[in-house]
Amino acid sequence: MAKTYKIAVIPGDGIGKEVTPWAQKALEKAAEGVADFEYEQFDLGAERYLRDGSILPEEEEERIKANDAILLGAVGDPRIKAGILERGLLLKLRFDLDQYVNLRPSKLYKGVTSPLANPGDIDFVVVREGTEGLYCGAGGAVRRGTPNEVATEVSINTAYGVERVVRYAFKLAMKRRKHVTLVHKKNVLVNAGDMWQRIVDRVAEEYPEVTHDYLHIDATTIFLVSNPSRFDVILTDNLFGDIITDEAGAVVGGVGYSASGCINASDEYPSMFEPIHGSAPDIAGQNKANPTAAILSAAMLLEHLGFDDAAKKIHAAVEADIEELGSTVRTTDQVGKDILARI
Ligand code: IPM
Ligand code: MN
Repeated sequence: MAKTYKIAVIPGDGIGKEVTPWAQKALEKAAEGVADFEYEQFDLGAERYLRDGSILPEEEEERIKANDAILLGAVGDPRIKAGILERGLLLKLRFDLDQYVNLRPSKLYKGVTSPLANPGDIDFVVVREGTEGLYCGAGGAVRRGTPNEVATEVSINTAYGVERVVRYAFKLAMKRRKHVTLVHKKNVLVNAGDMWQRIVDRVAEEYPEVTHDYLHIDATTIFLVSNPSRFDVILTDNLFGDIITDEAGAVVGGVGYSASGCINASDEYPSMFEPIHGSAPDIAGQNKANPTAAILSAAMLLEHLGFDDAAKKIHAAVEADIEELGSTVRTTDQVGKDILARI
């Protein structure tokens, strides 16, 4: 009998509510006969916060932790001050659930128009550190609101935190084209950059088949548009990874095709899968959002649970759908149905 997995579902805000049900349907259909899913819905995000002031109550976080994985739609609303939901919900989950690998694949699908004139073959994955760096919230402000205000944001980099994500990147490279590019700014951030480089060099010795190189973050933004085919696995810290994955999403035709995983690779806590796009309040509730990225995040969830064949079914269905119908204007539900029909 197929094992049942418990999935926490946080549709969140805006189009998150419209695309997430399609991720659930894709998950079920692709894994038919090999795994079953039991969903627990969580009402978290802007609407909840505006209604009763809660962001992530402890009791609900404990229930989320008791699941095998998490599907997240999107979080964000222009009515709420920047930082409240980001820090209180999304980043709190990433940190508390120790999701130290933020995995973000970028692939240019046949049928999608890249903004680049000569994109070439684009197929790389960014391994972004997820629990350290400038995202830790270390810092503070004094004399706030006065002309003498001081504000600090400190980047935390631990050898432990860096090594575990470096190891993940090299292991992943072994399953791909066996090349890792470390991206940092070691000519200026000499303390953290030097530590990242030394850890990469040391771990690389255990992977003689994997080649590795280094690029500064500024040069990386150039290569992402001038020669994106040069990349296989990009390994970087939390903030650099945030920035280049938006650029990466753009070069493969928009974040509508980009999924991501916040992975706890030691499986101590559930991992979380989400489309890279936001809640898109401008088109929310209009059945216009593309559910493809959410459906691809379901494929990443399946891979994480070890159902590679089921994940491949989703990838194949998405690829065929985009190639044939990618340029047509369809509703959210139509794209969902079209992809489901191919799984
Ligand atoms: C992302 C987002 C988040 C991040 C924000 C919303 C906190 O931009 O997932 O890339 O910076 O990580
Ligand atoms: Mn981002």
